[in-house]
Amino acid sequence: MVETTGRNASRPVTACLSSGKGGVGKTSLTVNLAYALAQKGLRVLIVDGDLGLANVDVLLGLQVKTTIRDILDRGADPLEAVIYVEPRLGVLPSSSGVPDLANLGPQDHHELGEILKDICCHFDIVLVDTAAGIGSSVLWFNTFVDYNILVLTPDPTAMTDAYALIKVLSRDYRRQNFHLLVNQVKNEAEARQVYEHLSRVASHFLNLNLDYLGGVPRDASVSQGVRNQVPFIKVAPQSKAALTLFRHAERLRRWASPRPGAHKTAGKAGG
Ligand SMILES: Nc1ncnc2c1ncn2[C@@H]1O[C@H](COP(=O)(O)OP(=O)(O)O)[C@@H](O)[C@H]1O
Ligand SMILES: [Mg+2]
Repeated sequence: MVETTGRNASRPVTACLSSGKGGVGKTSLTVNLAYALAQKGLRVLIVDGDLGLANVDVLLGLQVKTTIRDILDRGADPLEAVIYVEPRLGVLPSSSGVPDLANLGPQDHHELGEILKDICCHFDIVLVDTAAGIGSSVLWFNTFVDYNILVLTPDPTAMTDAYALIKVLSRDYRRQNFHLLVNQVKNEAEARQVYEHLSRVASHFLNLNLDYLGGVPRDASVSQGVRNQVPFIKVAPQSKAALTLFRHAERLRRWASPRPGAHKTAGKAGG
């Protein structure tokens, strides 16, 4: 559509939302952050990086024809696979119920990297919604992008799993910059507490300084949006969750301009 036909002269900024644990809100926050960024005038691509259990299309009520699998398996045109939900907001969908695809091998990752590099230049910012866990594709997406956003909740298991992912990425893939997005909190103080706790542990055991992206309140408009298959930020822009997410989107907008030239760290996930 109109806004996305031009190729971006400079490289777009890329970020992925990961968590370790499932059900913490990665897909909901990816979709709604993307929507907020598109509203701010950026050309945004959501990549459904949950390759075996795709959910982005479900959250947006999309009819998917072509997926990442079709692109890899039969050379489908990646740009034709992109579905536009808004003039500036595209989705590159994945498949659901395809165990083989949940964790690609090194050759497929290499090909996917080339495809994404090509397609990404049509956008200003690319957000990848990854699967739960620390499988090879989750690790690969986390090394492909410029920014690693860790989504967690105050639940101790979510904190443990986020820490485990940070540990693997920093130890084995030399990633150094992690941005915490604390979802489903009672208030800002609770989000800060979660951040400070994980931050102390990461500093002590991994010698890492974690960055605080912010908190997102537990809010019925989020689950309502999921059930109705529409971004809550669109249908309930005055809800508590939407207002905080618009603020976090502003931070991401600043990442997109100016470009973070020196931000990308070395390291490749094998397999
Ligand atoms: N801030 C929130 N407030 C209320 N419910 C939320 C919030 N964030 C996520 N949820 C709910 O949690 C469930 C899981 O969210 P989802 O985005 O699918 O998680 P993930 O992608 O991490 O598995 C959804 O049904 C959603 O409604
Ligand atoms: Mg998900």
